[in-house]
Amino acid sequence: MKTRHFLWICLFALAAVAVRSNAQDLITNVYGRNRVSLNGKWNAIVDLYDQGERMKLYENRKPVGNTDFYEYAFEGGLRLNVPGDWNSQLSELNYYEGTVWYARHFEALPQTDQRQFLYFAAVSYRCKVYLNGKFITEHEGGFTPFQVEVTQLLNKGDNFLVVQVNNRRSQDAIPALAFDWWNYGGITRDVWLVTTPQRFIMEYFVQLDKCDSDKLVACVQLSEKRAGETVSVSIPELKMNMEMTTDADGKAESVCQVKRLQRWSPDTPKLYQVYITSATDRVEEEIGFRNIMVKGTDIYLNDKPIFMCSVSFHEEIPQRKGRAFSEADAAMLLHEAKALGVNMIRLAHYPQNEYTVRMAEKMGFILWQEIPIWQGIDFADRGTQKKAQQMLAEMIKRDQNRCAVGYWGIANETQPSKERNEFLSSLLEAGKQIDTTRLYVAAFDLVRFNEQKQRFVMEDEFTAKLDVVAVNKYMGWYHPWPVKPDDAIWEVVSDKPLIISEFGGEALKGQSGNAQVASSWSEEYQEQLYLDNIRMFEQIPNLRGVSPWVLFDFRSPFRFHPTHQEGWNRKGLVSDRGERKKAWYVMRDFFEKKRK
Ligand code: GCU
Repeated sequence: MKTRHFLWICLFALAAVAVRSNAQDLITNVYGRNRVSLNGKWNAIVDLYDQGERMKLYENRKPVGNTDFYEYAFEGGLRLNVPGDWNSQLSELNYYEGTVWYARHFEALPQTDQRQFLYFAAVSYRCKVYLNGKFITEHEGGFTPFQVEVTQLLNKGDNFLVVQVNNRRSQDAIPALAFDWWNYGGITRDVWLVTTPQRFIMEYFVQLDKCDSDKLVACVQLSEKRAGETVSVSIPELKMNMEMTTDADGKAESVCQVKRLQRWSPDTPKLYQVYITSATDRVEEEIGFRNIMVKGTDIYLNDKPIFMCSVSFHEEIPQRKGRAFSEADAAMLLHEAKALGVNMIRLAHYPQNEYTVRMAEKMGFILWQEIPIWQGIDFADRGTQKKAQQMLAEMIKRDQNRCAVGYWGIANETQPSKERNEFLSSLLEAGKQIDTTRLYVAAFDLVRFNEQKQRFVMEDEFTAKLDVVAVNKYMGWYHPWPVKPDDAIWEVVSDKPLIISEFGGEALKGQSGNAQVASSWSEEYQEQLYLDNIRMFEQIPNLRGVSPWVLFDFRSPFRFHPTHQEGWNRKGLVSDRGERKKAWYVMRDFFEKKRK
C-alpha cells in the first residue's frame, strides 16, 4: 500500500478515535466563561420506532440526482424549544416515551489559540450527539451536565448539530421503571458553545475547611498536566491573594487563614467576588463561605446549632405543566419557598438546574441536592452502579463551589439488602473522594411503630455510614395514628441528627370536608394532619429538621383519582394553580416560631 494512502488511513483512524470521546471532566463555572447560547427553536423528528440511526438522520442528506430521495428532512418539520421538555410543548407528546431527534445549524469561527466545547446543562434521559454528520459523544442521566470538546471538529461558518434524545424508562436506569414524577423528555436545560484559551483553568474549588471557620481551602486544576505554573485565587474584599504552583498533574492547592470573613448563612447570604487566574486564563464568580458539620445529634452552621426548616419541590412549573429551566422559573419556585419562611430546600429528587441552585444561594437557602436513586433501583447491576457514581460526580463537580449546598443526598426510600448496602457504600466513597465538606444523607421509609415497645423504631445498618439520617413518614396519610401524636415516642437513630424529609397528605384546593376523613381530600383534613404531625415532632428528641412533602402539587403518572387527582399528586401546600392551601399557613406559622 502506498505510504500516502497509509498516512491518510492513520489520520482518519485518529480522527475517528478523537470524536468518540465520552464527556470529559466538567469545566467549572460554565456561566462565567466565554460562551454562545445554542438555545432557541430546534428542528425535531419524533422517532417512535428508533429508525433514525439506521436511516442516518444525523447526516441530514439532501437529494442530488433525479433518483435520490430521503424519507426524512429536519427543515420544514416539527420545531421544539430548547431548553424545554417536549411533553408540555405538544399535546401529542404529553405521555411520549421514546426517541426525538433534535437538530440545528450554528455558526462558528474556530481560532487556533482557543478551544471549543459543547456543553449541555441536561438532556433527559439519555442522548447521542452528532456534529457535522459524525457521532461525537453520548450521555446518560437526565439531570446533570456534560460536555464534549469540538475544537478540531468545527467547520468555519456553518455547523450542523444533531442530538438523539430518548426518555424511555428502563430497569437499569436511574431512576428506573416507576417514579412519582412526570417522565419529561428533551433537551431540558441550556446548550452552550463554550470557548476557552488553548490552556485554561479546567476546575477549581474554593471553600472553607469543613471544621475550621477561618481556614480557606483552594484547589485549581489546569487543562494541561504541567508543573511549575503559577495560579492565584484572590478575594479583593478580604484583601486576600493566594498564589500557588501546579504539580506535574497541573494541579495546585493551598490553604490560608482569612480574618474578618463574613460567613454565608440563610439570614446573611454573603457572597464574595473571587478571581481565579493562571498565565493564560481568568475566571470570576461570586462564592460564599460557611461551615456545616454534625456534633453529636446537632447540626451546626457556622458554629451554631441550626434546625432545618425545609420544604421540597420538584423541578416543575405546575401552571405550565412543564419542567422548570429558566431564571424566571427558579424565581417563581424560590419566592414561594421564601414566603413559607424556610431556611432549607430539598431539591427533590434529582440535581436541579443551575439557575435554581445559584439563585437559592443568593436568597439564603441551604440546599439538599440528591441524585435520583429513588425506590426500585437495580442495585445488583454493575452498570447501574457506575451510572450512579457518574451522576453523583457530575452533580458535585457542578456545584462544589456553591456554599448553599449543605447536603448530598444519595438515596430515597431504598430497601435494605446486601446489594443495596454495597451499592450505596461505594457511592458514598465515590462522593467523598470528591467532596468531604458537605453532609451526606439519605431518606428512608423504614420507621415502623413497634406495638410491643409502643414506640417508633427503625432498623437499617446503613444509617451508621451517614452524617445525617432522614425519614419519610406519612403519619395520618399512608399510616393511621397508632397512638395520639402527643404520646408518640421515637427511638430512631438516636445518636445522630434526624430530619423528617417527607411528611404530609393530599388535599384538593378549595375542597372542604371532614377533618377526620382522609378520603375527603379536603383542605381541613390536610390542615389537621399537619397540626397532628407538628405535635408529634415536638416529642422526637434528636429531630433537627422537617421538610413537608411538598411545596407545589406536581404531576404524577400514577395518581389516578378522576376528581381528586387527575394525574396530580395533591400533597402540595400550594395547588397547581398557585393557590395556598390551609396547611400552608400551618407550616408558615411553625417555621416562624422555629426560626425566632
Ligand atoms: C415518597 C417519595 C415521593 C413521593 C411521596 C408520595 O416518599 O419519596 O417522591 O411523591 O412518597 O407518595 O407522595
